[in-house]
Amino acid sequence: MAENDCKDCKDCKKQARWREDFPITWESDNYITRREMVKFLGLGSLLIAGANFMVAGVPHLVRATSYPQTRLGLMSEIPVGGSRLFNYPTGDDPCIVVHKDDGTLVAYSQVCTHLSCAVIHSEKDNALFCPCHNGYFTVNEGRPYAGPPTRPLPRIKLEQRGEEIYAIGVEV
Ligand code: FES
Repeated sequence: MAENDCKDCKDCKKQARWREDFPITWESDNYITRREMVKFLGLGSLLIAGANFMVAGVPHLVRATSYPQTRLGLMSEIPVGGSRLFNYPTGDDPCIVVHKDDGTLVAYSQVCTHLSCAVIHSEKDNALFCPCHNGYFTVNEGRPYAGPPTRPLPRIKLEQRGEEIYAIGVEV
């Protein structure tokens, strides 16, 4: 038998070669102190908390600061009680702006929070209406009050600069 093949048996006085390089017994190998365990759990918890922050918090912060400022047109171009469609923040995000009877404007994502059909303005009901399943949202807050939707429509932040209206952000 070659020297390297020695299995560290009881009959042999010689130690296996690997034992010289790694002189740790099995008993010591499995022994974990309470301090090490607490340190491991503490670091593990910190890592999980950090990962949660990265997943939940960072995209929210980035999104909050990265909305474009998009000109929607002149206030006078949207008749009182009427509405206009636009896209924001990208060309693939349909939105609707409503000129309320009190003279102010409100804007929302046009994507219904039930199953993503496009909501339209119903002047007759003074509501945002989803024709797919008869969902209704209030014009003032975008809050659902009839039909299957349970979540409000994301609101588009508007800013008036003189006569001009700009979309400047999204409140989810
Ligand atoms: S998709 Fe709008 S109510 Fe169902």
